[in-house]
Amino acid sequence: MGHRIAPSILSADFARLGEEVRAVIEAGADWIHFDVMDNHYVPNLTIGPAVAQALKPHCVRADGTPVPLDVHLMVQPVDALAQAFAKAGADVISFHPDASTHVDRTVQMIHAEGCKAGLVFNPAAPLDVLEWTLDQIDLVLVMSVNPGFGGQSFIASALRKIEAVRRLIDASGRDIRLEVDGGIKADNIRRVAEAGADTFVAGSAIFGQPDYKPVIDAMRQALRGVRE
Ligand code: DX5
Ligand code: ZN
Repeated sequence: MGHRIAPSILSADFARLGEEVRAVIEAGADWIHFDVMDNHYVPNLTIGPAVAQALKPHCVRADGTPVPLDVHLMVQPVDALAQAFAKAGADVISFHPDASTHVDRTVQMIHAEGCKAGLVFNPAAPLDVLEWTLDQIDLVLVMSVNPGFGGQSFIASALRKIEAVRRLIDASGRDIRLEVDGGIKADNIRRVAEAGADTFVAGSAIFGQPDYKPVIDAMRQALRGVRE
């Protein structure tokens, strides 16, 4: 399926978001990761559907190929905002199952809106819900930091969780992406890929540098030869 690098615009310059999205796509981003925080599910407040809608036209390569808008909802409740982001142009919508009272219904609703649906697991969250949802979802997102802020350090136990999710996905035989989010840098991305992740969110590692292409190139270089 190929490795995907998904820069998180949480660490971009919010005063120039359109420009930042175009710059990071030109530097080689595969997906644009969009972090939505509500100051309720997580202790921080970010950006909403109007910003997603404004950025959508910027999510395209120079040759016209669209770049998926990967929306990570850290909100509670989930459903109304998931719907609003679908209408705003999200391609993938992921939510934390512990933030939705009816996880199956939320997944169905995201699909009915024409988007891919993902479930997100916090560092201390068990994976039980996957037993009942893996036959429907398109993506599993393993948090390698506690959600709420960019620039935190990678929590090592996430590697074991990624390995466990990889086994479940492989056993299901379905085409499900395994994304990891938090503390990913050029110097640990290979280990994360070896554990079984195929899609890598990186915020501060990319937007914290003046030039995005060398960082993304270094990440791709580190991923060379790892099973995809
Ligand atoms: C954390 C967010 C992440 C964050 C990652 O709640 O979900 O997407 O932006 O940032 P870094 O790569 O800086 O850890
Ligand atoms: Zn995220």
